[in-house]
Amino acid sequence: MTQYIHCMTNNKNQIWTPKIDKTKRGVYRAIVDAMRRDIEAGILKAGDQLPPQRELAWELQVNLTTISRAYREAMRQHLIGGEVGRGTYILANSAEASLFELHNKDLNKGHHQADFIDLSTNIPARNADDNRFNQSLQAITAANQSTLFEEYHAPILLEQLKIAATKWLNWRRMPAKPENIVLAGGAQTALQAILIALCNAGDSILVEQYTFPGMKDFARQFGLKLIPINMDEQGILPEDLAKIAAKTHAKYIILVPNHQNPTGAVMSKTRQQQIAKIIAAKNLTLIEDDVYGGLSPMPPLSACLPNHAIYLTSLSKTVSFGLRVGFIHAKAQHLDALTHATNLTQWTLSPIMMQMAINWIDDGTAFDKAAWQLAEIQERRKIADNILPKNIISTRDKNSPHLWINISQSIDIQIECENSGLNTAPVSIFLPQQRQKHQNHIRISLVAPATRQNLAIGLKRLASIIQ
Ligand SMILES: Cc1ncc(COP(=O)(O)O)c(C=O)c1O
Repeated sequence: MTQYIHCMTNNKNQIWTPKIDKTKRGVYRAIVDAMRRDIEAGILKAGDQLPPQRELAWELQVNLTTISRAYREAMRQHLIGGEVGRGTYILANSAEASLFELHNKDLNKGHHQADFIDLSTNIPARNADDNRFNQSLQAITAANQSTLFEEYHAPILLEQLKIAATKWLNWRRMPAKPENIVLAGGAQTALQAILIALCNAGDSILVEQYTFPGMKDFARQFGLKLIPINMDEQGILPEDLAKIAAKTHAKYIILVPNHQNPTGAVMSKTRQQQIAKIIAAKNLTLIEDDVYGGLSPMPPLSACLPNHAIYLTSLSKTVSFGLRVGFIHAKAQHLDALTHATNLTQWTLSPIMMQMAINWIDDGTAFDKAAWQLAEIQERRKIADNILPKNIISTRDKNSPHLWINISQSIDIQIECENSGLNTAPVSIFLPQQRQKHQNHIRISLVAPATRQNLAIGLKRLASIIQ
């Protein structure tokens, strides 16, 4: 028997009427599917308010827990958002934001906020003993550099930061000169500027089989078509790249060869050479996102593709998320367009953060922080290896801040995690194409929990779900 849901949206003339079959299992899923379909069809629009759960349960004659589950799932998929007392709203569809939404503790049933362990956020581990941010800030104010807060930065600051960027890139074994650097407010802004400078709506872009949500968001906003290339634990497969590059008219390929997000894959030297050969032969331009590169002994792929690569990185994953300083390295022919695109999207970086990045690269603090981060990740990986069943960790590299977890059982791992007081990042937010075939995976971050103890608690909860 087919049931119809009738509920008011923000616009009082508009009635939401999705069809669900209550006789089938998984009514909550059917509600979420209907919601997604109607958002895609434009029937439900960002800002529309959904009915209170109790009302919808009454309307549908289903259990309140079914509706709660449906709303929770829709929140997890970032279709809707809301706050206690303010109602539930359709969201502008943003997978990247869904990662932050995962922290909305109102979603979490049965666990108190303090109990929840976050394994979803990909920001560096915090070193409680490291006071250098305060010290640097004090040093900058003591030197009476308040102009850094109050005025446009002096042109020399740009030059100094480009020189510092070169030092950072050379440390990464990426040959670079200051005149080839464009500055950006982080890796996401850098990527956005590159795509704005080079691509047109409708272009096809080759990406990894699973890609990070920021990339997906950008592609959706700018009408780019993402074409996934299959991967193994060393990144994209050469034969798949050759086949797909021959079939499509794509000019650009975006890769994260070091600690790929979400799989943690790292390209070996041999794989780098194979991929570089195909990129050059097919006359593709590589856009390499090396945001995790500072945590890898492998040099960037761009280093062996000087004529076919635009390279980008930031200090977000290795030094400090809050600095918001990123670097693009490109050939002379791209520099004007890239500078224009960064001016357009961000105008300028924060001068105080520019100064701090310069100071930290010059006095070695940045490299020191990256080394601490790597050592902390290695310790945390040992904890994961001890607690999780071996066969579920797909990420081989022991330096990766995130792990790709293979869930072979047919369980709704996201719901199970939520019920156990865990935030994890589901495979759905990493799929370049909406209906792409995939296996059941989650990405967990080793560095999100504040302490190693919290990480261990979280991993034990995950292990007990999976066993
Ligand atoms: C592959 C990749 N690129 C870029 C970013 C964004 O980096 P940033 O914080 O420097 O903008 C992320 C963040 O998770 C990422 O995983």
